Amino acid sequence: MSSDEKKISRVKRSKEEAKISYDKMSKWYDLMAKPEKKFVISGVEKLDVQEGEKVLEIGFGTGDALLNLAKNVGRSGRAYGIDISEGMLKVTQSKLDKAGLTDRVNLVMGDASILPFDHEFFDALFMSFTLELFDTPEIPLLLGECRRVLKTGGRVGVVAISERGDDNIMMKLYKWAHMKFPSYVDCRPICTEKELKKAGFKIKDVEKRTMWNLPVDIVIAEK
Ligand SMILES: C[S@@+](CC[C@H](N)C(=O)[O-])C[C@H]1O[C@@H](n2cnc3c(N)ncnc32)[C@H](O)[C@@H]1O
Repeated sequence: MSSDEKKISRVKRSKEEAKISYDKMSKWYDLMAKPEKKFVISGVEKLDVQEGEKVLEIGFGTGDALLNLAKNVGRSGRAYGIDISEGMLKVTQSKLDKAGLTDRVNLVMGDASILPFDHEFFDALFMSFTLELFDTPEIPLLLGECRRVLKTGGRVGVVAISERGDDNIMMKLYKWAHMKFPSYVDCRPICTEKELKKAGFKIKDVEKRTMWNLPVDIVIAEK
């Protein structure tokens, strides 16, 4: 079955449940998500944020991408992050403090489905392992918000577990875990490139990789 014909499963947990589970996971998240880090860093590198730019990360988690984005924007730019979890925000804040980068970063705690930023404010926007935890009807709305806050010609970088043809054993297991434990395995594979195109972005680069045999796409697109 092609990825276009596949039905993307719905996200069954509520936003409140997401907040509670990410708060609980925040202290252990770096350990749990270690294998994901190299994909996150590749996505940040491909987004190629420049000194002086304004960049937003949605769902910054424990802040590793945001730290790199803050270094890239330099003293003349600014990095912003929004995350629903207070626990994640605290972990990220302490990493920023230790790295001496706090003065060039704004952290916001909240639901990213309505972005509290002006139209055409950002040069670039980044999301890793986050777009795929928004429920199916919310994905186009979130990407619409991303387009709204991005300048014309602005770039978006998305790293996401993605649908790619027939499911292998790992994918079947992962989807089973998503159904069984919706609060803890809230990400599920999505048609990343297709969703970005549908939202009106021009695709600039797609790298198709795998993590434990699960397809991960790193997509760079432009408004
Ligand atoms: C799977 S984690 C990924 C974290 C980080 N981007 C990474 O790659 O390590 C998803 C993050 O999105 C946040 N999140 C979940 N739902 C959200 C929402 N509706 N608005 C903003 N952030 C949300 C979670 O708190 C969590 O930090």
